[in-house]
Amino acid sequence: MPKISVGRSEEDREEYGLKGTGIIGKHMVGENHEAHTANPIYFDLARPHVMGVFGKRGTGKSYSLGTIAEELQTSDISDNLSTIIIDPMGIYWSMKRPNDRSAPLLENWDIKPDAFDAQVYIPEGKTQEFDEQEMPYDDTFTLNPSRFTAQEWGMAFGLDMNSEMGILLERVISKLQEETDGNYTTDHIIQGIRKFDFPKETQEGLVNRFMAAQDWGVFSQESSLDKFTTRGELSIIDVSAFGEMSSGWSVRALVVALLAKRILRKRMTARRIEEIDEMENIAENEMPIVWMLIDEAHEFLPAKGKTPASDPLLRWVKIGREPGVSLVLATQQPAKLHPNALSQCDVVLSHRLTAKQDIDSLGEIMQTYMRHDIGHYINALPDRTGTGLILDDNSERIYPIQMRPRKSWHAGGTPDAFND
Ligand SMILES: Nc1ncnc2c1ncn2[C@@H]1O[C@H](COP(=O)(O)OP(=O)(O)O)[C@@H](O)[C@H]1O
Ligand SMILES: [Mg+2]
Repeated sequence: MPKISVGRSEEDREEYGLKGTGIIGKHMVGENHEAHTANPIYFDLARPHVMGVFGKRGTGKSYSLGTIAEELQTSDISDNLSTIIIDPMGIYWSMKRPNDRSAPLLENWDIKPDAFDAQVYIPEGKTQEFDEQEMPYDDTFTLNPSRFTAQEWGMAFGLDMNSEMGILLERVISKLQEETDGNYTTDHIIQGIRKFDFPKETQEGLVNRFMAAQDWGVFSQESSLDKFTTRGELSIIDVSAFGEMSSGWSVRALVVALLAKRILRKRMTARRIEEIDEMENIAENEMPIVWMLIDEAHEFLPAKGKTPASDPLLRWVKIGREPGVSLVLATQQPAKLHPNALSQCDVVLSHRLTAKQDIDSLGEIMQTYMRHDIGHYINALPDRTGTGLILDDNSERIYPIQMRPRKSWHAGGTPDAFND
């Protein structure tokens, strides 16, 4: 029996076998309560992918994202990879702890609980909040406000670029870009707004938005994002701190926007150098292949409307294969994810879905090689956590899967009220 390796091309399978893969779960044979686990399912970590992780609430999406991160960290090619988790709920810090509470379950799988050397990053201006609540973190990050276009600010503030405020914003940013060396702070933007001859109301409206943005605690002279692409490292970008703010998702999207743009640019440059090295027979990779795992991805790349992260992420989806960036997008509702992202997924892990529009949107991708409609496969899944379907465009196969238990602690579980 050939081993099941999803995401891996026939050529890679012949040349590399299972090198650069990770075991994410086991193939499930049989239907419903008669289903049992069989062979391991290997997942390709060596090539760039766009992967969707779907399923309704509590079916294991965040958990599975963690499993993928664990495999990226422990694989035989980890040194050539770097993994970033965008963590809107602040749940992945617990990967630093071993999953001791599931030790008996892990034993059935011949796996030992294990702590991961994850680096948790929070916005620089949020350290006090974290310290007060005794929430652990390792380091902070900042964004340079001059790296954003007027359109991106506009999207973050929910401004129509044709409105008075939108027009003023456009003028201020282009003036600053002309008149400075390309580096300016939010204070400069605020001063700039006041210098223009616009109605007071418009000016103050825009000033208020930038003052609110200063409270986000992410802006500084320099962006400090390069540390996220350190070779072999797992970086957790905790953007949960903006939770209570109405603009919360806007700030998170700005973080992802800047990160996605920067990494893609760096990888494109690195790829060029690697190509030259290859011509001269030097086998080295300049910069690790970057995997970005985004939880609650529909908030960043929605089907309806646009966030600052929309275009940068769509570029990853569209051209990421060439420079070598991978994207894993987890969402409750695939129908709410941008259709271009959905259609570009080459691997999908779908836990249980019930809403018709979500099942339909899933059925639209990769339908050519399915023998039944997608609903049939979903209905055949046993009612156990961590089960799902893998749709693999590379091998044109569909596999029912039981995702493996986590080595590290998962903090995102459903709370209960049983304990005193
Ligand atoms: N593969 C798995 N093996 C064992 N338990 C799992 C598995 N996947 C999920 N679970 C359980 O289900 C709970 C909910 O999973 P979670 O990933 O937080 O849901 P969501 O889909 O809402 O992100 C987890 O806390 C965990 O206890
Ligand atoms: Mg979740």
